[in-house]
Formats: sequence, C-alpha cells, structure tokens
Amino acid sequence: MEVVIVPDAVAGGELIAETIAALLTRKPGALLGVATGSTPLPVYEALAAKAASGAVDVSRARICQLDEYVGLPAGHPESYRSVVLREVVRPLGLGEDAFMGPDGAAGDIAAACAEYDRALAEAGGVDLQLLGIGTDGHIGFNEPCSSLASRTRIKTLTRQTRQDNARFFDSPEEVPHHVITQGIGTILEARHLVLLATGEAKAEAVALAVEGPLAAVVPASALQLHPHATVVVDEAAASGLKLAGYFRDTYAAKPDWQAI
Ligand code: GLP
Repeated sequence: MEVVIVPDAVAGGELIAETIAALLTRKPGALLGVATGSTPLPVYEALAAKAASGAVDVSRARICQLDEYVGLPAGHPESYRSVVLREVVRPLGLGEDAFMGPDGAAGDIAAACAEYDRALAEAGGVDLQLLGIGTDGHIGFNEPCSSLASRTRIKTLTRQTRQDNARFFDSPEEVPHHVITQGIGTILEARHLVLLATGEAKAEAVALAVEGPLAAVVPASALQLHPHATVVVDEAAASGLKLAGYFRDTYAAKPDWQAI
C-alpha cells in the first residue's frame, strides 16, 4: 500500500485526476469506479477541467457506481445514480450509455446485486476504483463486520452512517436504512484502488485502515490485501498515522518513472 500525504483536498483531487488521465491515455475505454460523498468532488472537478481543456480525451471512458440506496423513488436527486450522473458522467460530456450501476429500485434486490457483479465482470472489470472512507471505516457501504470476501449485496446502514449522510436529505429519517454495495471481494477485484480521505473526522478511520490489523470491523483495512492500493490523505486525515514520516520520505524519493 502506498500512502501519499498531500497538503489539502484540492491537491489530492489533482493528483488522482492526473492518475485517471494517464490511465485513459493508456487505455481510452477504461472502466472507472467512482465513489459518492463530498470527498471525491475535487477529483471530478479536476478531471472535468482536464477534459474541457483537451489535456485528456475522456470520450471513451466508462463509469460505474460503487453503491446505491435501496428504495428511493426513481430519479430521486440523492440516489447515487442521480449523483454520479450529475457529478461525474455529465461534466465529463459522457452519456448514460457510458454508465452502469446497480438497480436500487429492483423488485428482486438479490437478483439485481448478482446481476451487477456479472455486469462488472462482463465489462472487463474495474480498472481504477476511487474510494472514500466512512467515519466508521466503511468503503462503499460495507459497514463494520462486512465479510472481507463479500460480493455485491444488500446491507443495512449503521446509525452513524445514516447520521453522516443525513446532510444530503431534507430530514434524517429520509436516509434509507438499506443499500446495495459492491462487496469487499468485488472491490478488491479492481486493478487499482485509490482511497481519498480528507479532514480530521477521517483521521482515526484512516489510521486503523492503514496501520491497524486487517479486520472486518474496519472494512477499509481490506486495502492491505490489494497489490496496488493507494491512499491519498490530506494533513488532517493523516494526523493519526504513526508512519507519516516514512510515507512522506517514500513519496519524496519516488522515482520519476513510477506513478501512484
Ligand atoms: C457514503 C458512501 C461512501 C463514502 C462515504 C464518505 O457512505 N457510500 O462511498 O466514502 O459516504 O462520504 P464523505 O466523503 O462525504 O465523507
């Protein structure tokens, strides 16, 4: 695992957008897994700016969702489908045909989950999966004690996650209890995992995920199992890391030819 400590969220967004741009230059039809929440927005802004300036051609990129609420009415502005279309797909000038996600309104949720895992595999697998981290250490919506081998499935949100996400809804009660999320096993199949965390509120979860034991109680610790995982943190989110000095030295001494 590589840990990169950046000065702030904008610098983190720029670094990850550069990485995605390099991937799309190498592989124009790459499948990009995107996360929701506030943290990844600087990535999407920086990538859209690169696309608009012609620094990268994103016209063949494909975008896939990490997770979704269950039971929101079709077209609800806070369904993750709506969020990803609004924040990622349209700003990149892509159409809905370039986008895939699980169906949170399906009559048969279990079948929709299995279908999404199949669709990801048939699409050739995710090339780069961008992740955020919940204050309880979740990735996607894999709450503490999710199986490290889990596949896409329905999960129940913790009270803490429902509270954390209440800011997106008119009232806290509107946050759904149930969600569909790519499983940890599904996420680990992506070729490159990039987790971005910013702000003091994420410091404890980041320290446990990066330096703590591999444990289902901290789902993000599963990144320790992945051969190509990059954790990008700002100073505040890095504040609980015992090895921060080592991570800084390593990044400063990184050979020019080696990307994150
Ligand atoms: C939600 C999403 C996660 C995201 C997390 C953190 O729970 N399902 O993918 O990482 O929120 O969100 P934020 O970046 O807004 O703190």
